[in-house]
Amino acid sequence: NGNINVAIDGPAGAGKSTVARKVAEALEYVYIDTGAMYRAVSWYMIRNDILPEHVEEVEHHVKNLVIDLVPDAGGQKVYCNGEDVTTVIRSLEVTNVVSLYASIESVRTHLVQNQRQMALRKGVVMDGRDIGTTVLPDAEVKIFMTASVQERALRRFKELGDSFDITLEQLEKDIANRDKLDEEREISPLRCSEDAIVLDTTHMSIPEVVETIAAYCRAAR
Ligand code: C5P
Repeated sequence: NGNINVAIDGPAGAGKSTVARKVAEALEYVYIDTGAMYRAVSWYMIRNDILPEHVEEVEHHVKNLVIDLVPDAGGQKVYCNGEDVTTVIRSLEVTNVVSLYASIESVRTHLVQNQRQMALRKGVVMDGRDIGTTVLPDAEVKIFMTASVQERALRRFKELGDSFDITLEQLEKDIANRDKLDEEREISPLRCSEDAIVLDTTHMSIPEVVETIAAYCRAAR
């Protein structure tokens, strides 16, 4: 009855981070949002005017980037070279280009290495796109969380609130576009691991999804 690792993968806006955070809370595990790490890298590159097509420059910079995820009041804070980037990495500016930086080999190598390090002692719930397939292929529980693109756009829309000037239609387009880039990239694309449990959450509430996953975890440890 020891600690296990839990991998939660799926497309954009499925509610993975909300659910993963709550599952971690229920199990008293550490929650690791790998999307935040790709976002932090993208934010750093944008700020330093390094375009995703300049692969060598990206590689040079990403090697020295230190990204820290620090648990904070049920969530987590994200630091990039010591700077708190928790809020800025959620901007549309970052969201719209993150898949481009995430397709670069050196970026993935660097982040995957960090992610594996964080999971060495087990007891983590990690969410992303390639956790079950690439980062933690030995995770004891693997969940692939989906929902229809309409439902995912609606969830993002509600989450963003009034402060963002974007329509539901535009969000749906952006999400479909990001899915396509994530599914079609060459290195560890978004893909359901063969041994993952597929959860279509289109008609499920957050507590239902959390309870379902937590039950799988309790059975596995
Ligand atoms: O989960 P989130 O929407 O914050 O992820 C942002 C982007 O980071 C994804 O669209 C994807 O391009 C990239 N990502 C990835 N691999 C992961 C997690 C995120 O490529 N494990």
